[in-house]
Amino acid sequence: MDRLKSSARLMIVSDLDHTMVDHHDPENTSILRFNALWEAHYRHDSLLVFSTGRSPTLYKQLRKEKPMITPDITIMSVGTEITYGKSMVPDDGWVQFLNQKWDKDIVIEETSKFPELSRQAETEQRPHKVSFYVKKEKAEQVTEALNKVLKGRGLDVKIIYSGGIDLDILPQGAGKGQALAYLLKKFESEGKQPVNTLVCGDSGNDAELFSIPGVHGVMVSNAQEELLQWYAANAKNNPKILHASERCAAGIIQAIGHFKLGTNISPRDVSDLTKDIENAHPAHEVVNFNLLLEKWRRAEVEDTELFLAGLKAVAHPTGIFIHPSGTEHHIKDHLNILRKVYGDSQGKPLKIWVDDVSASQIGSDTWLLKFDKWELYGEERQGCVVTAIMSTKESNWFTWVHIHQTFLEQSGKQEWMF
Ligand code: GLC
Ligand code: MG
Repeated sequence: MDRLKSSARLMIVSDLDHTMVDHHDPENTSILRFNALWEAHYRHDSLLVFSTGRSPTLYKQLRKEKPMITPDITIMSVGTEITYGKSMVPDDGWVQFLNQKWDKDIVIEETSKFPELSRQAETEQRPHKVSFYVKKEKAEQVTEALNKVLKGRGLDVKIIYSGGIDLDILPQGAGKGQALAYLLKKFESEGKQPVNTLVCGDSGNDAELFSIPGVHGVMVSNAQEELLQWYAANAKNNPKILHASERCAAGIIQAIGHFKLGTNISPRDVSDLTKDIENAHPAHEVVNFNLLLEKWRRAEVEDTELFLAGLKAVAHPTGIFIHPSGTEHHIKDHLNILRKVYGDSQGKPLKIWVDDVSASQIGSDTWLLKFDKWELYGEERQGCVVTAIMSTKESNWFTWVHIHQTFLEQSGKQEWMF
């Protein structure tokens, strides 16, 4: 990972299902709070790692279903696949390492003798992961028996039970914890060990994350029985582990505050964003500006004139806006067009979020910004890439000098992108 030149201020390593992603929250409230917090305050000097049991296929599917931002590192298939960046470049060194004392064919042959095991979907069978469903009552006994037979066949495996249903068989050196240890070692050898690491999880396959030395950990309030049992037996006296009182991503935000790892006030928690313009970082302005647009289009504004004046205050007098369709306006005129779309999403819960915000200073008072911007409108979603220039020349705050949007491939309708 060479996006950062020095140590990450914070590295968050989070599980997805029922940790970062709340499947019982159709409004996606807590993940959107986390996204805004991360992009405004952490993206520029910190690292986000997703660590999921899902295969690449199911991971990509989840990305389409939920408003997820892009992690710096993606660990999939229960710590057996590590990829870097947006383009997900695989870590071949990790694959080589996992080949030790592993033979998938033997695992398949031996497990077929257990009628208690039912095989998961083909997408979830991976080079270093063989996965089944097994009832809670049978899990312990099957695990024990399997361990014995596979050892007898010369394999060194790890069997993990999660969510009260999933049973994964992996090479002994694999798993979410081992994958994290591997990454930390890699960072250390480059002299870039994160200042703080926070691991986040809810189920059995996350337990290993909490036993990596030095890390802070949060078990979200909705954590599964098997993780809480592991905690009670192995880590009860570790003050670096928190069982949050909040669910999913809200529990992660809670832990950032609890362990004092940095700010945990998401721009989505700030009641009057129009007054919040003297930001320390341009990424913060990017997040705030887009949240204001969301509020406007949801008709959640008390004093519309004051609100528009607030938006105009962050537009450079001669700033230009290029819409993805190619039309061009002064930013100030564009903001006047906003009057027409006040509350246009009423009835449909519009959500706007930005992803992968990068900012580079290109002059004493000038910044070049790039980010993806997404709008979720009912069930439909569309995105654009935004490049922008911001300046602090004429004021104490960041003003938008230039905004250029280009539709991302996945786009559908064109009208509703502001
Ligand atoms: C995910 C995977 C599944 C695995 C489970 C627990 O749901 O899709 O294969 O068994 O995580 O690790
Ligand atoms: Mg989970």
